[in-house]
Amino acid sequence: MDFISSILRFEIGDWWKEEDLPLDYKKFGNFLKLNVEVGFGSGEFITSFATSNQKDLFVGIEVYGEGLRKVVKKIKEEKIENILPLCGDAYVVMQVAFEDESLDSIFINFPDPWPKKRHKDRRLLKDEFFLLCKRKLKRKGTLYFSTDDENLALFADLEIKKVDEMKNCNSPYPYIHEPIYPYKTKYEKKFLEEGKKIFYFLYEREDASH
Ligand SMILES: C[S@@+](CC[C@H](N)C(=O)[O-])C[C@H]1O[C@@H](n2cnc3c(N)ncnc32)[C@H](O)[C@@H]1O
Repeated sequence: MDFISSILRFEIGDWWKEEDLPLDYKKFGNFLKLNVEVGFGSGEFITSFATSNQKDLFVGIEVYGEGLRKVVKKIKEEKIENILPLCGDAYVVMQVAFEDESLDSIFINFPDPWPKKRHKDRRLLKDEFFLLCKRKLKRKGTLYFSTDDENLALFADLEIKKVDEMKNCNSPYPYIHEPIYPYKTKYEKKFLEEGKKIFYFLYEREDASH
């Protein structure tokens, strides 16, 4: 499958053909790992991570079309051959696009905090979504997420504890304040400039033998 034409195909939404799902990532090349970033925004994290790790495939999921367009433009201009951007709601895309136990890593950088209590069902970092992430992760696969919002950090910590088989890599702490990856997102740069404290989480799906 030609990489750039497949990106265009995803961009126009044609990938919904059921016979193509879940996607066969082997068609895109012989990559070592399959990683996913949810809500990549304008794409700084996924593009710098992918260009530094060219043996791995990075699938980005973004519901906002403008962000997707920016990343597609960058991929074409810089001829990046290991990013596949998908447009849609991560809740749906994750369910249909990937086989269970197929992902090496999932990254969620600064999801919308939805601070009001009445909007808490809109938060991505909740137990149903964590359960879906666990299902799609391989054994020993990792789930990483970050936020600048302390209430969301505390909420996410309680929600992920409801999901079994997910081991906190920062235990005994729920999160750390030092960055885990060297690649910065647009929001992260802004929050760091403002001197905000950032909450970084890293979880690993436990081995079957646990
Ligand atoms: C606060 S922005 C952070 C963007 C980027 N990760 C960063 O750190 O600069 C949250 C992003 O998540 C996207 N988003 C929110 N809910 C989503 C969902 N259900 N599926 C996919 N993307 C989503 C938004 O469109 C937005 O681009």
